[in-house]
Amino acid sequence: MSGIVTADSEDRPDIRDRPDIQDRMERMYRPQRLIYDLTRKYYLFGRDRLIAELALLPGDRVIDIGCGTGRNLEAIARRYPEARLFGLDAAAVMLATTEKRFGKAGLAAPGLARASAEGLDPGELFGIEAADHIIFSYSLSMMDDPVQALERAAASLAPGGRLHIVDFGPMDGLPQPLARAMRAWLARFAVHHRPELAPALRQIAQIRGGTTSRTRLSFGYAEILRFRRT
Ligand SMILES: C[S@@+](CC[C@H](N)C(=O)[O-])C[C@H]1O[C@@H](n2cnc3c(N)ncnc32)[C@H](O)[C@@H]1O
Repeated sequence: MSGIVTADSEDRPDIRDRPDIQDRMERMYRPQRLIYDLTRKYYLFGRDRLIAELALLPGDRVIDIGCGTGRNLEAIARRYPEARLFGLDAAAVMLATTEKRFGKAGLAAPGLARASAEGLDPGELFGIEAADHIIFSYSLSMMDDPVQALERAAASLAPGGRLHIVDFGPMDGLPQPLARAMRAWLARFAVHHRPELAPALRQIAQIRGGTTSRTRLSFGYAEILRFRRT
């Protein structure tokens, strides 16, 4: 029996207001899920670095938002076996792939929920009061309202908790024809660099109390953004 929680209740404004997110992601990823990990290996940079930098403590609660096929969750489970892992995604097909992957690997399945990131509620979805770490790995660049997703995540952190984001950057250090071609190709999958994320994170830090940092990767191709709640 599947352990995936579905947040499609009529009481959830995030689902009511965005009824098509789950359908769109389902349509996009149903055919792609089989080749997803193999193809993304070559262009989703920085994911392993982000995982190495997590430096999790035993019992830390980690939510991976837009967890996809569970590639990152599996790497985290192997590196930090005592962490408590949770994955959220809009596409049921991706969550089913994650569940299968953990079964095949003989690892304890993470808590999984189908919902939109913009309506994250760790209590309702995962039965935890708050998270110690929340990860967005190449998911904010696909979202309808990435700033709202960041705000919800920041509000879901325990004191001292951290947000970790890795995603496409401005590509400003790349040869411009290459950057243009890459941007056009990503746009075919509704993926866009989100320049509003770094300022939104700084504003969240001002309002909630905390610090932010940013690391450029590969001439601006990608970037890692971080927020630590004080
Ligand atoms: C490019 S994949 C990244 C998967 C994984 N994090 C990785 O690094 O390989 C983006 C994922 O985000 C999910 N997603 C997109 N918009 C979402 C939203 N608003 N709420 C929840 N998940 C979303 C998609 O279904 C997809 O699985």
